[in-house]
Amino acid sequence: MTDRAIQRVLTGITTTGTPHLGNYVGAIRPAIKASQEPGVESFFFLADYHALIKCDDPARIERSRLEIAATWLAAGLDVNRVTFYRQSDIPETPELTWLLTCVTSKGQMNRAHAYKAAVDANTEAGEDPDANISMGLYSYPILMAADIVLFNAHRVPVGRDQVQHIEMARDVAQRFNHLFGRGKDIFVLPRAEVEEDVAMLPGPDGRKMSKSYDNTIPLFEGGAKGLKDAIARIVTDSREPGKPKDPDSSSLVTIYDAFASAEQKATMRADLRAGLGWGEAKQRTVELIESQVGPMRARYEELMAHPERVEEALMAGAAKARAVAEPLMQEVRGAVGLRKMLAVARPSAATTAAPKQALPVFKQYREADGRFYFKLTAANGTVLLQSQGLADGREAGGWVKRLKTEGSVALAGAPVEGISDRRALDAALADLLAAAAAENQG
Ligand code: TRP
Repeated sequence: MTDRAIQRVLTGITTTGTPHLGNYVGAIRPAIKASQEPGVESFFFLADYHALIKCDDPARIERSRLEIAATWLAAGLDVNRVTFYRQSDIPETPELTWLLTCVTSKGQMNRAHAYKAAVDANTEAGEDPDANISMGLYSYPILMAADIVLFNAHRVPVGRDQVQHIEMARDVAQRFNHLFGRGKDIFVLPRAEVEEDVAMLPGPDGRKMSKSYDNTIPLFEGGAKGLKDAIARIVTDSREPGKPKDPDSSSLVTIYDAFASAEQKATMRADLRAGLGWGEAKQRTVELIESQVGPMRARYEELMAHPERVEEALMAGAAKARAVAEPLMQEVRGAVGLRKMLAVARPSAATTAAPKQALPVFKQYREADGRFYFKLTAANGTVLLQSQGLADGREAGGWVKRLKTEGSVALAGAPVEGISDRRALDAALADLLAAAAAENQG
């Protein structure tokens, strides 16, 4: 059943590095917080196929996947509440990527920022424009579009550098709907969400904390000592203890603020203005961050020592994700013409076969609860499909009609309870389609 009130939020994390304090404050912590909101269904995944575009070192890929997964789990991600999985565990993703590739214009990909930047760098260096550019890099936005639309995500929280990719995903989804939807929207059009008020942490040298500037503060790696040493390296001005300091121009204060309560923030500012020494301010910062990161680090180390627990969580996540992806992919395959042939091939046989096959039957009825139901029963009496209770009888009738005329494709989004035998159900719906087709011919 599609509940319009539920908002799907989805985001991917490229698995090339080790999470640092900036990743935690800017991405992990807000994403976990947002996943706890009511009415939100979150999909978080390790974008390990994307990682392959940037990195051909298998050991690094492997290590980063584990570190990032363990970090999210240690940071309090509730895997019962969200769907947490690895991109490479979802075969529907590369499958959909191909179908989207076929409707994506090359010209649009030529305009992707990452590709254009690579071409510009080559041109500047006097090289062939496409030197060292893989098709993976070129098609990066299409793989990303598949990640997003495969789960019909409404909102995609990303950094500013990714906004163009979400716009491309929206575009591709729209084109696909237009070409193949026959008036229906197969894909939700996603929207980028750039968090404006999430702190962008500076690194120890004052520039944006980033691996590319080599100025990160590790989140877990190096233990409490690693954290303390990195904070000790934060650049401050040379005012001595006892001299008033300007809290607003200090990276140390920005980092402190990212972990502090309103009251703690105010106290730190007042104390610095009153002459608190930088050394002491750093000591306070270490204590504050350690009080929050310390317990997570313990969980992280436990998980790193037991990768099989991480694996288990991810496999359960993949099963949950595929339960969503598979039915949609079935609809998508059907939409482009890659449908099972049963429905088309059987009618001619049916017209020549003398005795009428006993067909499965749909029944519509109303229960004592006043709600409308439908079910599909095989000739031998087995219930193949049972609907949920619907408030509106016409809605039940509409679904029966769609299932009869569209077959299994209509199951995605249909208000049905658990399906026990999907194969038998597919076959029964195909039989009904075939019978209807034979009738139309006859
Ligand atoms: N390209 C994103 C990044 O580097 C990661 C990513 C892959 C992603 N697939 C996604 C983000 C889908 C959001 C949605 O940050």
